[in-house]
Amino acid sequence: MDYNKIFEDIYTELSKIDNKGVVAEYIPELSKIDPNKFGVQLTTVEGDKFAFGDWDERFSIQSIAKVFSYVLAYSLIKSDLWDRVGVEPSGTAFNSLVQLESDKGIPRNPFINAGAIVVCDILVSELEKPKEDILTFIRELSGINSINFNSRVAESERSTGFTNMALVNFMKSFGNIHNDIEEVMDLYFNLCSIEMNCMEVSKSFLFLANNGVVPYSGKSILSPSRTKRANALMQSCGFYDESGQFTFKVGLPGKSGVGGGIVAVHPQRYCITVWSPPLNPKGNSYKGMLFLEEFTTRTELSIF
Ligand code: DON
Repeated sequence: MDYNKIFEDIYTELSKIDNKGVVAEYIPELSKIDPNKFGVQLTTVEGDKFAFGDWDERFSIQSIAKVFSYVLAYSLIKSDLWDRVGVEPSGTAFNSLVQLESDKGIPRNPFINAGAIVVCDILVSELEKPKEDILTFIRELSGINSINFNSRVAESERSTGFTNMALVNFMKSFGNIHNDIEEVMDLYFNLCSIEMNCMEVSKSFLFLANNGVVPYSGKSILSPSRTKRANALMQSCGFYDESGQFTFKVGLPGKSGVGGGIVAVHPQRYCITVWSPPLNPKGNSYKGMLFLEEFTTRTELSIF
């Protein structure tokens, strides 16, 4: 299939539509991005690559990184992950506090902020150098050693992260945070600040399209059964209270971030990453969502 041509055609089509999205402003450092940036990249499990636009420019991957932290924690701990975080879609905003009280400090899933903060707590318990180790893990998945945190973005998040601090304190009061709050949040804010380009994101998610094995290195990251679960969680929880819409319109497991990136996985076939910074009211890339809907419709390549 001529994916490059399809990318160009969809881009041209979407250029005619007014972008109703707004760049994330609640993190000052993210608000500086050019809203007209647009990139897309697809890598197949066989290693074929297709790209368009600003695909090689790094952006803040934000919550896309929550998949990396979850997979690393899942691969490290044997038992108690599911006692501490659930596997249900929350149906609420990514930073919502409302369910935590009735759920006794157990977040609904690892991809809402509360769930990702519990995963960070697990990584702090399990790893000697969690920040270095998560970077090493992502560099290993992507094969690209220059991937790094952006300290300005991490600081910007820290200085405005009052809701996230409320989440971690509330969960600590229920006993679901075991480590020092500052240490856990340092990992969380840095995790969100990681910068990658579309190609690097697609490449590092490819093991999820390949039964848990990194195709180009042969390294097994997750068993096929755990890979199924990771994809299932992305399908049901990857877009917060828009997860149903993404499933309905795109039909692939995926994950978004407030930097405007979205990655989607077609098991046994490919990973596709699209980046367009303006966000819809749910915090997902406005044009990224439209682009992927159009892509799976034109190619008739979805899992459903
Ligand atoms: O915790 C935050 O607010 C951000 N660093 C991450 C949020 C995010 O990307 C949610 N995504 N859609």
